[in-house]
Amino acid sequence: MGVEFKRYTLNDKSEITIRPAFMEDEQKIVELCESVTNEDYISLQATPTPLEIRQVFKFPDYFISLVTEHDGNIVGYGEIKKSPCQKKGELRIYTHKDYRGVGLGTSMMIMLLREATYKGLQKINLMVATENLPAVHLFRKFGFQVYRVTGEDPLLGRRNNAIYMHRILNKETDLQCIQCNQAILCESFLIEK
Ligand SMILES: CC(C)(COP(=O)(O)OP(=O)(O)OC[C@H]1O[C@@H](n2cnc3c(N)ncnc32)[C@H](O)[C@@H]1OP(=O)(O)O)[C@@H](O)C(=O)NCCC(=O)NCCS
Repeated sequence: MGVEFKRYTLNDKSEITIRPAFMEDEQKIVELCESVTNEDYISLQATPTPLEIRQVFKFPDYFISLVTEHDGNIVGYGEIKKSPCQKKGELRIYTHKDYRGVGLGTSMMIMLLREATYKGLQKINLMVATENLPAVHLFRKFGFQVYRVTGEDPLLGRRNNAIYMHRILNKETDLQCIQCNQAILCESFLIEK
């Protein structure tokens, strides 16, 4: 399979398309990530660099990636970078700041986790800044659990307030039912076209 094309109506009635990321999207994805990099507390989370985004297209076997399109613009980007054994993955997700809080991140998480489950990944890890409450909330909603928290780093002499979260995936179980009933509710508010 692969990431499907899906049209959704978000909570604010805007119509978006979630689809696989293509090589032609590279520059727009870079621009989206750069706009997010300039936000508070994001630097800690290491937004994808242009080089990293290029790798997504250079080594497609090692990535699950998708974009969200609205009026021809890329307003969301999500990726899972697979480990060499293809059983684990690192998730990163970005939505344009003008499109937040209306269900875009939620719908992208559904698609990313579905595809990861389908591809046989067994565990997804991610890292997020401690103060990034919207992201922590989103990940908890999808059953991610905290396994490590870091604070001040005395050796590096700098702040490193990060939360590391993970979630086990199981192909045999309905994705939305593993740990998080809310994910089912989330999808029900998205009207599929
Ligand atoms: C995290 C992020 C992807 C969420 O995207 P989004 O499009 O706003 O997601 P949604 O609209 O689906 O909202 C997700 C949840 O966050 C909640 N939320 C929004 N703002 C919030 C806030 N300030 N505090 C707490 N929760 C908040 C929403 O209410 C929603 O929860 P609900 O469904 O229970 O109501 C987006 O904020 C983002 O791109 N942030 C910058 C990049 C980043 O931090 N990425 C994550 C680390 S890789």
